[in-house]
Amino acid sequence: MKVLLVAGARPNFMKVAPILRAMKGVDDLEPLLVHTGQHYDEAMSALFFRDLGIPEPDVYLEAGSGTHAEQTGRIMVAFEKVCQKEKPDWVVVVGDVNSTLACAIVAKKAGVGVAHVEAGLRSRDMTMPEEINRIVTDSISDLFFVTEQSGVDNLLAEGKLAERIHLVGHVMVDNLLHQLRQLETQDGSRFAVGGYKPEPKTYAFLTLHRPANVGDPETFRGIVRALNRIAESHKILFPVHPRTRRRIDAFGIALSDRIVQLPPLGFQESLYLWKDAAVVLTDSGGLQEETTALGVPCLTLRDNTERPVTVTEGTNTLAGTTTECILAAWEAFCRNGSKAGRVPALWDGR
Ligand code: UD1
Repeated sequence: MKVLLVAGARPNFMKVAPILRAMKGVDDLEPLLVHTGQHYDEAMSALFFRDLGIPEPDVYLEAGSGTHAEQTGRIMVAFEKVCQKEKPDWVVVVGDVNSTLACAIVAKKAGVGVAHVEAGLRSRDMTMPEEINRIVTDSISDLFFVTEQSGVDNLLAEGKLAERIHLVGHVMVDNLLHQLRQLETQDGSRFAVGGYKPEPKTYAFLTLHRPANVGDPETFRGIVRALNRIAESHKILFPVHPRTRRRIDAFGIALSDRIVQLPPLGFQESLYLWKDAAVVLTDSGGLQEETTALGVPCLTLRDNTERPVTVTEGTNTLAGTTTECILAAWEAFCRNGSKAGRVPALWDGR
């Protein structure tokens, strides 16, 4: 059986690493890794492949950046040629990025089975491009691999057949625990950012890249006002996404000098910093789950989440995106300490 496994953007790489490792151990399965090139910078792509032990992609599509239509369209045109040449039995897509959507549509129209890993998640926020990607991908997928019960419930409510839905836990946690074991055998101070790491539990770790948060100057300034206040008591380590970097410069956003701006980091370097943070502040999807998996407190700089188990069972709190909301969540965290989170079912690294 020939399977094309698709990865395009940073959060995909963490998910394909364990899937590919497992697939390579199965007789009669020929997995081919397709990298769409949605993310392409050394720090956004190649560094992750090295860190995560992912082999060179079998096919690289060089899609690059652009508007949603440009990027999605370029991936579709290139991936259709790959399907025509390789004639796969299945295409496996992961997550909710534009590459996920583009390759699912192409495969389905080529009569190829589509399996979606991390299926069923819903934020109900249709202003999020990822929500559209999730809904469209699931609407045409044949097999659903789901990370939490809410995903199963959503798919059943949308009329999907129960026998096609598999609650399997989280491949991203498989990767996380694998990487954590590797990190424990190494001296983290070898990392370029090693010197920036304060004493454990005395600092915060921040990621911020969503267009809704950094695209509008007023929203971005409001978030930064709260961050600057938090930084008065907790130094904040902040690897800056390329879009956010450009917005900081374009809007003249003034960050406290206790917010340490770092370049985009590899997976291990980033894990080395956030695993010992007092709190993670983020608008990423993956970090909400990874912090829950390791029991690190997380304040999510969004009004909603498609990963509700991180809030109901894990260490995640939705802090919103206004100065007042974020500071209220921060003050509650300082007063009450971290939520007593537990690790969701099947997030066991297996
Ligand atoms: C994408 C995903 C998002 C995910 C994020 C992680 C979609 C719709 N969004 O968003 O779900 O959380 O990846 O990073 O697929 N850029 C570079 N170098 C790169 C890649 C991008 O400089 O290697 C810049 C480009 O100027 C580009 C911008 O970052 O315009 C955004 O990249 P893009 O892949 O379009 O979306 P992300 O915001 O990264």
